Amino acid sequence: MNSKKITYKGLGIVTILFFIFSISASAQWNIPDNVKNKKAPQDATYELIKTGKSVYNNKCSSCHGHPGKGDFLKLNPVPGDLGTSDFQNNNTEGSVFFKLDEGMGSMPSFKNQLSETDKWCVTFYIKSFDDNFVVKGKKSTSIKTNLTVSSDNKAKKLKAKAEFEDKDGNMKVLKGADVAFFVKRYFGNLSIGNVKTDENGYAEIVFPDDIAGDSTGNAEVIIKFKDTDAYGNTAVTKTVSWANPVHYENPLNERHMWGNRSSAPIWLLITYFSVVIGVWAVILWVVFQITRIKKLAKE
Ligand code: HEC
Repeated sequence: MNSKKITYKGLGIVTILFFIFSISASAQWNIPDNVKNKKAPQDATYELIKTGKSVYNNKCSSCHGHPGKGDFLKLNPVPGDLGTSDFQNNNTEGSVFFKLDEGMGSMPSFKNQLSETDKWCVTFYIKSFDDNFVVKGKKSTSIKTNLTVSSDNKAKKLKAKAEFEDKDGNMKVLKGADVAFFVKRYFGNLSIGNVKTDENGYAEIVFPDDIAGDSTGNAEVIIKFKDTDAYGNTAVTKTVSWANPVHYENPLNERHMWGNRSSAPIWLLITYFSVVIGVWAVILWVVFQITRIKKLAKE
């Protein structure tokens, strides 16, 4: 085969590939009629929609953004906002399921990536932005709650009291709610306990012994409900003085490689100045020798 033939063959392949790509880039969803009318094997419930929402946030929101917010990635073709009424009116439960199951172009196929149930849950979540979508069961509206925290300095105990407002507006004791305790840290919070409230609405923890605090042993504790969907995400903070005092040295104050000029390591200063002095000495010596050339020539 001569090189000309190879070039033609290469050109041919490139052209064909180009056509395939341009066709697939402008592809349309081809949804069979029986798929459009397909129904989920079970009714949509608020519980399943909640599962679908977390699957969506894990697997879909990176490209599609949040439904109704229009914050999808600007790809070509665009992933699109799945919460718009335009999308909802043109996509049945069956079509949404089909599209995420099959994928197309840069829309990945989730056929083997998600379980059948998860795929339906995501579909329910997406369709829940359709005003006509029917959801079974009772909606668990988040109730109005209140958390108060008291501390016992001697026993190093923190006690949270949880209450909720009943439908008549009276505060009642909230039993069996998970209360989470954290110590505030620079990066994220350190969990120090997770306790269910007892029949009087109390959740109590003993502050651990091995928590590092600031230089005076203070630490800020954050207390909140674990199930923020059900009880809201109000957090109570309380500063306690039961942590181990830790004195943080500012590393810039010592002599270190990363210190500023006035705190550079001695050995570095010695090395630096001997190199600088050495180089200048050589330069001056050369200049001196050059000035001697004329003198020597005259002699
Ligand atoms: C890597 C980015 C990406 C991810 C992740 C992604 N999609 Fe997509 N999706 C796209 C793109 C791009 C399109 C547009 C495809 C086209 O029109 O060729 C699309 C289209 C769709 C459509 C059809 C939109 C319409 O207007 O008909 C649906 C439905 C959809 N995606 C659902 C999902 C679901 C559900 C998930 C998560 C399980 C998901 N997508 C994850 C990129 C993504």
